[in-house]
Amino acid sequence: MKLTLRVWRQKNADAEGAMSTYEVDGISQDMSFLEMLDTLNEELIEGGDDPVAFDHDCREGICGACSLVINGDAHGPERTTTCQLHMRSFKDGDTIDIEPWRASAFPVIKDLVVDRSAFDRIIQAGGYITAPTGTAPEAHATPVPKPDADFAFEHAECIGCGACVAACPNGAAMLFTSAKINHLNVLPQGAPERETRVLDMVAQMDDEGFGGCTLTGECATACPKGIPLFSITSMNKEWLRANRKVSR
Ligand code: FES
Repeated sequence: MKLTLRVWRQKNADAEGAMSTYEVDGISQDMSFLEMLDTLNEELIEGGDDPVAFDHDCREGICGACSLVINGDAHGPERTTTCQLHMRSFKDGDTIDIEPWRASAFPVIKDLVVDRSAFDRIIQAGGYITAPTGTAPEAHATPVPKPDADFAFEHAECIGCGACVAACPNGAAMLFTSAKINHLNVLPQGAPERETRVLDMVAQMDDEGFGGCTLTGECATACPKGIPLFSITSMNKEWLRANRKVSR
């Protein structure tokens, strides 16, 4: 396949960015989207140009590092991560626009790489449990009802890629924050911090400058791991419950 790529280039956080146009040829439909970008970068390096900076790590849809807006969609036309998107989703002769996540809480560092450390600080505010050290406890010592285990697992699938924020017209981080809270709050292991977790993580989310949620649902549509929209309403319920309990 021969493609025209319109790629966001930005030297650093303070520089002005702009779209640059490149032609790539010989792209196989079996290549992943990131392998296609590798091909572009090899050509740029051979020509003495600066390669396009983009985030990636596992390339297996697990780590959440890859993060591109492709033709206006977070992670592109399929419901998957950018690294698991393949070139068979495009046609020979296509023009593809490639941009970084667009959200004020995710400032651009260089080209297609954004700073997502706001997510780390939300996790630091309460995305943990208090567990005694020592040998592993017997697996059945703390029974967890099957519906609760399923609920926790569904939310634990969040890989923190930030597609929810990039897709949201408000730049809200409610889907990410709710997934991380719900995953732990439903389990007995998460019970000691149940109230402080939701209050502190939501407060940190607000401090980071993410937008407010208006339940448009774009986040859940873009999420490569299928975190459901009701995750947000569950978090809101937890937040109200925690506020009532703390103010008593
Ligand atoms: S590179 Fe790890 S999820 Fe895409």
